Parts: sequence; structure tokens; C-alpha cells
Amino acid sequence: MTAPRPGFFLTFEGADGSGKSTQAKILAEALQAQGRDVVLTREPGGSKGAEEIRALLVEGDPARWSAYTEILLFTAARRDHLERTILPALARGAVVISDRFADSTRVYQGAARADLRPLVDRLHELMIGVEPDLTLVFDLDPETGLQRGLARRSGEDRFEDLGGGFQAQLRAGYQALLSDYPDRCIPVDGTGSIEAVTKRVQAAIAGHLP
Ligand code: ADP
Ligand code: TYD
Repeated sequence: MTAPRPGFFLTFEGADGSGKSTQAKILAEALQAQGRDVVLTREPGGSKGAEEIRALLVEGDPARWSAYTEILLFTAARRDHLERTILPALARGAVVISDRFADSTRVYQGAARADLRPLVDRLHELMIGVEPDLTLVFDLDPETGLQRGLARRSGEDRFEDLGGGFQAQLRAGYQALLSDYPDRCIPVDGTGSIEAVTKRVQAAIAGHLP
């Protein structure tokens, strides 16, 4: 469901280290320089409560939570993010750029446990019920992405710690997402320099923003 709203909801998706955060920041600054009202946000997180839940999710032992608890925590964080940050910004007509949203749960938790995907979709429908207007899906080979991601040493590597096999599954999951939601998902090649990727992002959003 995409409720009518004056703003524009853009999400960046892709595996860890694929360049989402870097490009989201560059795009937000470029749109702000055009005089637009832009809210740059991220998941898990993006509101005070959701940032507190984030720490529970991204730090510590990869086996810290069961798959079920993890889905509930991501959804709880998303509900708070939606209520406090995303919907108010869209209501006043802002462009909201979120570094990850519900597609991450579909792909990550669906990659870890394919049998839980129907549960992810039902919970989304019950508790979130909002889809982005446009989603850029960054694609990068898992090795390069993992090296870029771990080079950051952010201390938030619980998901990166799941290893290369998991990263390859994620890539397949994002390919499937592109065919499941062709109307709102656009692939972006994440290889090459930051400047080269920025040009691809600009080409991908051209004509979509109101
Ligand atoms: P993500 O948000 O998808 O995890 P980031 O944007 O944080 O990815 O990028 C991961 C790391 O790779 C960061 O240290 C970032 O500076 C670096 N990086 C981003 N884009 C590129 C690029 N095109 N080439 C080389 N390094 C990059
Ligand atoms: P993020 O900080 O965006 O990681 P990165 O910058 O490395 O891409 O997200 C933290 C981790 O949480 C990341 O590995 C993806 C994972 N994640 C899920 O598994 N499910 C979700 O619903 C979300 C939003 C993130």
C-alpha cells in the first residue's frame, strides 16, 4: 500500500558495503542544495527509540537473537521510525531518503530463513503497511562489498560476521526483489569510483522526483 502523500519516499537498499550510505549522503546534500526539504535517515534506527533498538540488533554475537525475535525487533524499530520521522516528513512534503527500509527485512531475514518470508510479509502488512515511492538497489560483488564494509571497523559488524556465503545469498535476494517489485525498484551498479556511482544514482532518480 502506498498512501497518497505530498512528500517523496526514496529508499536505498543493497548488501553491506555496497555504497548506500555514501551515496545517500551525497544525494541528500545535492537535493538540499537545490532548496528541497530533505530528511536523510537510516534503518535500523532513524528515531530515538529505533536507534536504541539498533544497538541491540547490530552489536554482539551473530546468534544473539532467534530469527523470530530479530524480525520483531526490526519491525518494532521500523514502526517507531515511521511514526516519528518518516510520516511527519512526508506529510509536510519533504523528500525522505532512508538508508534501508522494509526490503532489508525481506531480503536479510528471508535469506537467513526462507520459510519465514511469509511471516515477514504479514507482519509488514499489519504493522507498517507503507512502501517507498522509489527504491535504488545497489549491486556489488560480495567480496568487494565485504572488504569495503569491514574496512570501516564500525563495531557494528554482527551481520557482516555472518560471512561470504550469506553475502552471496543476499545478492540473490536483492535480485529477486527487483523482479518482485519492478515498478519501484531500480538496480544501481555499485562498482567503480564514488563519482561514477553518483552519476548512476542521478540517472536512476531523474524524472522520478516530483
Ligand atoms: P553501505 O552503506 O552500503 O554499507 P558505505 O557507503 O558505508 O556502504 O560504504 C562502505 C565503505 O566503502 C565506506 O568506507 C565507504 O567510504 C567506501 N566506499 C563507498 N563507495 C565506494 C566506492 N565507490 N569505491 C570505494 N570505496 C567506497
Ligand atoms: P546498516 O547499518 O545499514 O549496515 P551497512 O551499512 O553495513 O549496510 O545495517 C545494519 C545491519 O542490519 C546490516 O547488516 C543489515 C541488517 N538489517 C537486517 O538484517 N534487517 C533489516 O530489516 C535491516 C533494516 C537491517
